[in-house]
Amino acid sequence: MSNAVDGGPAAEQSASLPKVVVVAAPKGGVGKSTLTMGLLVSARQAGYVAVGVGMDPQNSLQRWSSFREQQRSTPQGADLVNVPVTSLNVHDYRRLRAMTGCDLVVVDTLPGVGEAINSVISLCELADLVLIPTSSSPMDVDQVVPFRKNVAGNKSWFVLNSANRRTRSFQKAKFGMQAAGRVCPIEIPKLEAIPDQFLRGLTVSDKSEAGCEDFGALWNFVRYELGLAGRSQAA
Ligand SMILES: Nc1ncnc2c1ncn2[C@@H]1O[C@H](COP(=O)(O)OP(=O)(O)OP(=O)(O)O)[C@@H](O)[C@H]1O
Ligand SMILES: [Mg+2]
Repeated sequence: MSNAVDGGPAAEQSASLPKVVVVAAPKGGVGKSTLTMGLLVSARQAGYVAVGVGMDPQNSLQRWSSFREQQRSTPQGADLVNVPVTSLNVHDYRRLRAMTGCDLVVVDTLPGVGEAINSVISLCELADLVLIPTSSSPMDVDQVVPFRKNVAGNKSWFVLNSANRRTRSFQKAKFGMQAAGRVCPIEIPKLEAIPDQFLRGLTVSDKSEAGCEDFGALWNFVRYELGLAGRSQAA
């Protein structure tokens, strides 16, 4: 893994260790990669030097990043912010602390923690903030609640993704999670545009599509939780 990341407005303020956000869940398909991409784009748009780390053997984040590079080489994609992404095996999580030259690292973890559970727990302990995405489905909630007990409690937050705030299942899931841990005050709604954007290397925040306010709010939440607010002139 390279330490060299390209600079941005905040590069000169990055002499200290970067903040590390880990997006983890015991279940596949709950939005880990989607939240990671959204946070990375919002952070870069705000002028922070943010780098993505993909730990998923399916290379979702890395594939999205290469699609994004293709977009950025076209006239329509020329205004997209650059989002550097690198790969790291989950068992090598300690190497995150060797990353320098950036303000923020956002880590996309693997689909099911399975045999990697000990490394994922250690990774979460090393993190400054852990986001645990879940849908409102009782099947997902049932798995994230015990998972959270294993990860550093005072810095981990459930994030309701693909949410429909008007449904009873959403209210029930939120209530159940509030009894088990801290629930992020920002929910990400189910957005039609999201699945299609993967192959184009985009997020809803790139072209201010529906849902960009939700991702912007999630980024602001993360920024304040990390104490990053005010560190970038562009923020
Ligand atoms: N808020 C949302 N609205 C609509 N679709 C979403 C939303 N979040 C995620 N998706 C879609 O759901 C699918 C799974 O999302 P994603 O790949 O981010 O989950 P994941 O937890 O990273 O999955 P995996 O465990 O396989 O790595 C993708 O097709 C994604 O586009
Ligand atoms: Mg993923």
